[in-house]
Amino acid sequence: EKGGYEHYMRKEIHEQPEALRQTLAGRLDVDAGNVDLDVSFPPGFLADLEEIRIVACGTSYYAGRYAAQLFEELAGVRASVEIASEYEFGAGRTPDRTLVVAVTQSGETADTLGAIRRAKDAGARTFAVTNTLGSTVTREVDGTAFIRAGPEIGVAATKTFASQVATLAMLAVAVGRDRGALAASDARSVLEDLQGLPGAVQQVLDEEPQVREAAQAYQDSEAFFFVGRALGVPVALEGALKLKEISYDHAEGFAAGELKHGPLALVTPDTPVLAVLTDRSRGRETMNNVTEAQTRGAPALGCVSEDTEYDTLDVSFDVPDVGTVEPLVANVYLQLFAYHVANEKGRSIDKPRNLAKSVTVE
Ligand code: F6R
Repeated sequence: EKGGYEHYMRKEIHEQPEALRQTLAGRLDVDAGNVDLDVSFPPGFLADLEEIRIVACGTSYYAGRYAAQLFEELAGVRASVEIASEYEFGAGRTPDRTLVVAVTQSGETADTLGAIRRAKDAGARTFAVTNTLGSTVTREVDGTAFIRAGPEIGVAATKTFASQVATLAMLAVAVGRDRGALAASDARSVLEDLQGLPGAVQQVLDEEPQVREAAQAYQDSEAFFFVGRALGVPVALEGALKLKEISYDHAEGFAAGELKHGPLALVTPDTPVLAVLTDRSRGRETMNNVTEAQTRGAPALGCVSEDTEYDTLDVSFDVPDVGTVEPLVANVYLQLFAYHVANEKGRSIDKPRNLAKSVTVE
């Protein structure tokens, strides 16, 4: 049932092009620059919206951090993301002009359900982005968009992260169009990027031997640092989470600009830096920070837009140009890197120690 793969995680990484096709199927009207997610809000609600607050945990929280940037850019609405277990509605906010969006693969995460209940108690409108039909969250919120990634067995979330970001990107376009904040031509270009996503992810998957080689070369490092800017930040954080979860190695993600404000003290020739260096995530500025780490002897691996080159990188992975979702494509390299490091070490990849697929306690 693993379809010839030795682990569900690797199977699910490779299922991403198909999962993304399902996520997008029948939802895009590229010519008109419109999205149909089959969700409806009360008349005038989106136009009057003051803010979107995303609540989520773990990988879903990083999908939320990616999405918050898209909501601000495409939907022209203030957007924030909070770790669900830390979420409080807060004084001075306006519940009837707030949309609280739970991002949860399982739809059963207790922390996320708790946050949604606090939002409802405060009087906010709630929404869920989930993979699971009939899950608890769908019964608690005012509206749901399904990510349609198909079942994910590996404890480490992979294809569901990609499908979450793609679904949230569509939602950002839908909200932006409804609010009149996004021109049809700008929407069209984002939707074309989304359409290109499955093919772009496939191109990265075809580079797996190169990633495996890099994993073998660096697997014995003392720690791994992941950096990026803008949309590259959530991807760096997700890359670090994936690696620590399944390899049990120390990995940390940072906003690249923060390296010099502390973490640089940890950098040695034994701590590779993996960087998201795509053009649309401020790759050039990020590269400046990577160079600071290289000066301290750290090896540097980068995910780089295919039309760009940084000669000083020790390893460079090509990322196809798909605009706003380019960093999401770069993430596939980080998934493969985590997988191969863990596989070389013989870890229990599909069921890492101490972790469960669905966390139903707060
Ligand atoms: C990481 C991972 C977890 C989940 C988190 C939220 O690979 O799988 O961090 O993302 O437990 O789970 P859901 O999305 O089901 O709410």
